[in-house]
Amino acid sequence: MKQIFWGKLILSSLIMMLHFPSFADQGKTTYQTCSACHGEQGQGNSALNAPSLAGQFDWYLQTQIEHFASDLRANDPRDTHGKMMVPFAKQLSDPEQTKQLLSYINSFEAVSVKGTIKGDLKNGSRYYQAKCGACHGGEAQGNPTFKAPKLAGQDPQYLLRQIANYQQGIRGTHQDDKYGRQMAMMANAVSDKELQDIVFFISEQQ
Ligand code: HEC
Ligand code: HEC
Repeated sequence: MKQIFWGKLILSSLIMMLHFPSFADQGKTTYQTCSACHGEQGQGNSALNAPSLAGQFDWYLQTQIEHFASDLRANDPRDTHGKMMVPFAKQLSDPEQTKQLLSYINSFEAVSVKGTIKGDLKNGSRYYQAKCGACHGGEAQGNPTFKAPKLAGQDPQYLLRQIANYQQGIRGTHQDDKYGRQMAMMANAVSDKELQDIVFFISEQQ
């Protein structure tokens, strides 16, 4: 299974290096490398800890790729999952290529990754609106004004891991990571019990 996976990855990297000439296909070609983990349609892959990309704002995806590439994210040795992303972000050094890639990802249908998380919906809604909604939107749809990504539809395990990362100083510590630092402060203002209910509420949004 693992061998097939890495085989696919190497093969798709080779395809990417060939650089098919057609301009319109370039984003799709580049995405072949990403699809090994993030899925053909950007739906993510829980078993590989890879979040969904489909339905996410392109400016947010772009910032995260830049942050992985410049060590603003996944700079902590404990961030084993984030470190998986770094070499792929570093490969995207051509802005035009990244633009094509993001526009291809943008064409994916938004997904809703259903996890197995359970919680109290009423409490979750209350805590969410009080502590998260002002930035991430009433239905966790995200808000460009505050640079807050969409959370609805994202893998609940991924969301929980990111919040834990912010709490433990694994993400959002670099001094140039203004928004990550902001989010880390918010993550520290929520208890584990509240968090369980909040993420359950988010997982019930479209
Ligand atoms: C080997 C598997 C793998 C490959 C290949 C891969 N990624 Fe990732 N990616 C991950 C993992 C795992 C994470 C989650 C890291 C974490 O937990 O912080 C991630 C996270 C991301 C994020 C952050 C999403 C968010 O909500 O913050 C973006 C954006 C991303 N990847 C884009 C890409 C793109 C574009 C490519 C192709 C150029 C790619 N990835 C290739 C494994 C991979
Ligand atoms: C002051 C505005 C603000 C508030 C309040 C806030 N966030 Fe955030 N959040 C952000 C921003 C901005 C980011 C992007 C940070 C970055 O670039 O790393 C973010 C990122 C995240 C991420 C990472 C998403 C991903 O795809 O990797 C999660 C998960 C998250 N927030 C959950 C929450 C939860 C849960 C709450 C409530 C307890 C909350 N946020 C409150 C602004 C906020």
